[in-house]
Order: sequence, then structure tokens, then C-alpha cells
Amino acid sequence: MAIQPIRLFGDPVLRTPAAPVETFDKELRKLVDDLTDTMRDAPGVGLAAPQIGVSLRVFTYWIDNELGHLVNPDLDLSEDVELDEEGCLSLPGLSFDTKRARSVVARGMNMHGEPIVVEGTDLLARCVQHETDHLDGIVFIDRLDPLERKEAMRLIREAEWFGETPPQIRQNPHPAAWL
Ligand code: NI
Repeated sequence: MAIQPIRLFGDPVLRTPAAPVETFDKELRKLVDDLTDTMRDAPGVGLAAPQIGVSLRVFTYWIDNELGHLVNPDLDLSEDVELDEEGCLSLPGLSFDTKRARSVVARGMNMHGEPIVVEGTDLLARCVQHETDHLDGIVFIDRLDPLERKEAMRLIREAEWFGETPPQIRQNPHPAAWL
């Protein structure tokens, strides 16, 4: 088990677009293991690498007892949308109804560099969109209407965890520096 601290809203790594993975080596497999362990421990249904301080395009999910991961995701979204409750491990205790495409086809690679497709609706589709947003430096409250986002920011400023994060990016995108 290698559970990592989860970075909280306000940490610049969550606002940094993550770099594509280019090297499919044991460091990447360790990153997927760390993400999986940290997600299951939280527990959460999804976790993106920037949330544990690694600015690389990788996320894991754990939905309907199915564990998975995706590297360098590229999404095709359905036109029909659905509004449902959404939260984020980086904004503990907060959830808001958030609009997302109802279904998604996500193409990418597994940790061995083999092409894979993750296809899903509802929660899996929501999770894939939420985690891919993290890889682009986007947090789910960015998707809210302006008034709701304002309310979310007010609740964040009041949250006891806010402002406790050291403002630094611990790890850079180069695999050699993950150690
Ligand atoms: Ni999140």
C-alpha cells in the first residue's frame, strides 16, 4: 500500500494542465498503484494523478466494484446531458448538482502502453469527465452556473481544510523525478 496525501483545492497542482505520459515504465505502474490505493482508502470512485501531486495524464476509477485506470484519455461525449450530484476528494464535504454528458467513450492507454477504450454512462461517464477535467486543471465547481459557483467558493472559504495546503508542486512530470 502506498497511500498518498490528497491535494486540496487551492493547491496549484490542481490548476496545472498535466503532461501526457510518454514512458510506460515501472514508475508509471507505481503511480497507478498509488492512485488506486489512495482512491480505495479515501474511499472515492475516481482519482486523478494531479490530486496526489503528479502532473501526468493518468486517472483511476472504482465503480460498481470495477477497478480501472486510463492514461492519456481522449473523450467523445454524448450530446444528452444529465444533472446529478458531484463531489471531489480535493474539496472534502462539498457537493453540487453538476451538468455532465450522460455517456462517454474514452480512448487512451493502459499502464502497459496498450490502447484501451472505457465506455460508460451515468456515474462512470461522470467520473471519466470529472477526472479528465482534473488533467486539464479544471475543478468541478468551474462547471457550475456563476451563482452556484459563488456559493461554492463561499463554502470553500469557510471550510476548515481551506488554506492548509502548502502551495507547492512536489513532483514534476518527468518520471525520473518521481522517486
Ligand atoms: Ni475530483
